[in-house]
Amino acid sequence: MKKQWWKESVVYQIYPKSFMDSDNDGMGDIRGIINKLDYLKELGINIIWICPIYKSPMDDGGYDISDYYTIDEMFGDNADFEELLEKAQALGIKVLMDLVVNHTSDEHDWFEKALKDPSSKYRDYYIFREGVAGQAPNNWRSYFGDSAWEPVPGEENMYYLHAFTKKQPDLNWENQEVREEIYNMINYWLEKGLGGFRIDAILNIKKRIEMGHFTPDGEDGLTFIGHWILNQPGIETWLKELNERTFKLYNSVTVAEAAVPNERLKEYIGPEGFFSMVFDFSYTDIDVPETGEWFKSSNWTWDQMRENIFINQLVTQDNGWGALYLENHDQPRSINKYIPEKDINDTSKKMLATLFMMLRGTPFIYQGQELGMTNIKMETLEDYDDIATHDQYHRAILAGFTDEEAFSAVNRRSRDNSRTPMQWDDSKNSGFSLAEKTWLKVNPNYTEINAGKEKNNPLSLLNYYKQLIELRKDSIYKDVIVYGRFVPIKEANTNVIIYERILDNKRILVAINFTDEKQAVSLDPDYNKFVIGNYTQSNIIMEEIHYLQPYESVILANYEGELK
Ligand code: NOJ
Repeated sequence: MKKQWWKESVVYQIYPKSFMDSDNDGMGDIRGIINKLDYLKELGINIIWICPIYKSPMDDGGYDISDYYTIDEMFGDNADFEELLEKAQALGIKVLMDLVVNHTSDEHDWFEKALKDPSSKYRDYYIFREGVAGQAPNNWRSYFGDSAWEPVPGEENMYYLHAFTKKQPDLNWENQEVREEIYNMINYWLEKGLGGFRIDAILNIKKRIEMGHFTPDGEDGLTFIGHWILNQPGIETWLKELNERTFKLYNSVTVAEAAVPNERLKEYIGPEGFFSMVFDFSYTDIDVPETGEWFKSSNWTWDQMRENIFINQLVTQDNGWGALYLENHDQPRSINKYIPEKDINDTSKKMLATLFMMLRGTPFIYQGQELGMTNIKMETLEDYDDIATHDQYHRAILAGFTDEEAFSAVNRRSRDNSRTPMQWDDSKNSGFSLAEKTWLKVNPNYTEINAGKEKNNPLSLLNYYKQLIELRKDSIYKDVIVYGRFVPIKEANTNVIIYERILDNKRILVAINFTDEKQAVSLDPDYNKFVIGNYTQSNIIMEEIHYLQPYESVILANYEGELK
């Protein structure tokens, strides 16, 4: 296994609209991030990934870019961004931007020109098709609901394709000129000293366009677009070209948002792979049916959870390197997803942190996860900003849900659950902004859950995360945690998850009880060193029969020494 600095790193994901507002307009900005670099340094992370900050009408939280070269003024300007790069670099923190090249905004100059003049070269930058029998070219449903084809204003029987909202027209990657534009843009940012990119929706760039009417899979008469635009044959040529013309030249770190089928994983993340790593969705999307209709829960179980983690870890280590995450801006808060309401507390939060942070791969911590931020209970649908939330609500109603059921699904799964302002302290608007109104409501529990309070409590989740990060980055266990083989333990007790990490003769064991009851487990006596756990007192090693207390998690080792 080749050693790489980014394998030894811990990444922190910033949702810039909600991280820190320096000019008190109710929305976070780049200067806010600069002002909080010390917090990040102290946490111990050494890479930040910032969600899109390019110029955008913000129809989809910035994933609709109208100018790839300019920072949107709501976040500051290009000079602010360069200052952030410099200051982060001085603290040993690399910066990753989001790369959104499956689509642009419909307000991008290219698209505006394509609409204005059908004979302009920009027409071929996007995907335009004639309708069939007075209807859209086919009945694909976009990821965010409704037809994926939008009629072109002022033109008869002409449509453009958008896999996401109608304000996000898909780019035509078949056009070499489009690809050149993209590569130039990527290199422009890499030239500035960017560490690399998190790459959005990259499996969607190749389309297999078929006309006609396919069997609907929903009440809306439409069908899931993914069958035709996910990981289609031929995509590999462009991904290879993309890597060779950009990332490879700068030795950048890349993490792709790509649920790659196991049999193709090597092409993506192997030694000659297109990317440094891809995210593991297998346990974060466990509650979502394959069609993405999250208003219908998948009725997942912890048995599946363990199975998915184990399989993904094993397949990934056979092929290359993975990116781990519990939360991001597309997910609700993890504690609400995995743990019943009555058991949500610091112990169960630390249990999840342990389970996730000791896996093999580079961990991505999403802002506020380290504080144990939770879902918000919005009161009305209007309180939600996220376009996908509104879509899922309407689809739920269409599917026969009552208003109450649809709203409760929204409360449970909305992406806005994780997009509420960061909870810095117990002052006005959680210390995020002095504005009268923040762009999204602050979770009222900020007086209890906030960085200021947790910083001063040695037993807080925040300090526990710091310890876990330190174990990975700077301890005698570092090598085994980063490079050790992942070995699942088949334990007779199915109410626990146990795995080992092994490097030569060094071994650690992670044992997790995900239930609210005490669980007996059998442990190899070689594990006689207690490293860290989420109970202040653990007798696990000394006991004759080993018990894990409710929601207890422990890390044990077969060797010891000073932590550093
Ligand atoms: C994935 C991003 O994470 C999500 O937030 C966005 O809505 C879609 N891609 C479309 O860009």
